[in-house]
Amino acid sequence: MNVVCIGSGYVGSVTGTAFAVLGHPTTVIDIDPSKIDLLNAGKSPIYEPGLDQLVRKYIGKTLFATTSYQPVHEADVVFIGVGTPSKQDGTADLTYIKKAAELIGAYLHPHRFTVVVNKSTVPVGTADLVTAIIEEASGLKAGEHFSVVSNPEFLREGYALEDVFFPDRIVVGSNHERAKNIMRELYHRLVERVSYEEISKDFAFPYNPLTPKAVYFETDVKSAEMIKYASNAFLAVKISYINEVARLCETLGANVLDVARGMGLDSRIGGKFLQVSSGWSGSCFPKDTAEFLQTSRKYGTELSIVKAAIESNRKMHEFVVEKIRRRLKILNGKKIGILGLTFKPNTDDARQTQASVIIQMLLDLGANIRVHDPKGMEMFKAVHPHLHVQYCASAEDVAHQADGIVLLTHWNEYLQLDWKQMLSIMKTPYLLDTRNFLPKKLLIGLGYQYEGLGIGT
Ligand code: UGA
Repeated sequence: MNVVCIGSGYVGSVTGTAFAVLGHPTTVIDIDPSKIDLLNAGKSPIYEPGLDQLVRKYIGKTLFATTSYQPVHEADVVFIGVGTPSKQDGTADLTYIKKAAELIGAYLHPHRFTVVVNKSTVPVGTADLVTAIIEEASGLKAGEHFSVVSNPEFLREGYALEDVFFPDRIVVGSNHERAKNIMRELYHRLVERVSYEEISKDFAFPYNPLTPKAVYFETDVKSAEMIKYASNAFLAVKISYINEVARLCETLGANVLDVARGMGLDSRIGGKFLQVSSGWSGSCFPKDTAEFLQTSRKYGTELSIVKAAIESNRKMHEFVVEKIRRRLKILNGKKIGILGLTFKPNTDDARQTQASVIIQMLLDLGANIRVHDPKGMEMFKAVHPHLHVQYCASAEDVAHQADGIVLLTHWNEYLQLDWKQMLSIMKTPYLLDTRNFLPKKLLIGLGYQYEGLGIGT
């Protein structure tokens, strides 16, 4: 099957590469020539563990990249994976989606049947909009020459390859039999689980080959669009909930690690997404919860739980700053070292990150900030130029004359730091571990004044 992926960001690059690995001739299209040049040079345009290896292996074989929309002409399936950033009011900006739809319409083959797939996270009703734009641009009839399907992505940054090859579920929203058959055929090998050995020849997966088969779930278009928002918002609510419980644990003298574990043992609750943090962030949850809330308001059914989760998340950032202030008292002139700038480990994504909010608050209180991140410093610097912080080449450097260190992102390499040496160059041995991640006993043994989040015992 000829596949086209529009957009070479997280969605397009990962999806395109995956179908190329599965043997479908796949072309990634992007209007940005620098990203296409990277792909053609065998490099991934985004940082995602394992993706570089796969792009290097498949480019020019089953994976192709171009700035031209011409491949749409020969395509059986066209995925739209362009960005849907937030507008000022929280609603999704569909400019890139509309432009892509227009260009798809201009290149659609009049004598083929093409499935156009909304893979980006788009508000409910966007499939209708894309259909109307394509009809207008092509002069072709929906249902006869093409059909727009909703197939939301559920990729986590940092684990995107694991998620694309071994998904829990594949959701396809369509009311069109021919389109549904094409989608079933396209996803057949992913549902059946391509063999672990086959993929792991290219790179080592942190994947359990005994994981059950993916569920292939077909529904109508609008429900599929809704599933994506409802899922992301639910996960955000879940994290906000445990973060609030963590705050109460501190006050009451309970340990949130045990509370979360005890809760998660109930299979109805499940243990995942119950890890305490300084707040959820990233390029999905803040944007998607804002859009979902705005949509609900627009139609008069405000999602008050989502609203509360957003507010609670903001409070969690404040709670962390308050905790530091309680310990270090006056922050004016104090030196604070920050470990971790990305919104989570295994990504270089430092755009929408809790680190920027917390650092801004600390700077406003007069603190001097030294920061380190294994992958995210370049992006953080580019996206947050107003944050005047000192970037450290090594993680140990943030400890220099520090009154305290705050770990915001739980990168594995931070477990290997020379914590003894770091202590020796700190002014005050205060360490706040917002992910309850570091070896607490060992650090206390070394002489750190260690604090986690939600550990009141
Ligand atoms: C999220 C969803 O998990 C994916 O299923 C979805 O496809 C993706 O958004 C998307 O819409 O594209 P992602 O944003 O990559 O994926 O990151 P997550 O792993 O979900 O983490 C989001 C935030 O929640 C991070 O800041 C993370 O540190 C935080 N988090 C996560 C917690 O604070 N506690 C947890 O237990 C889990």
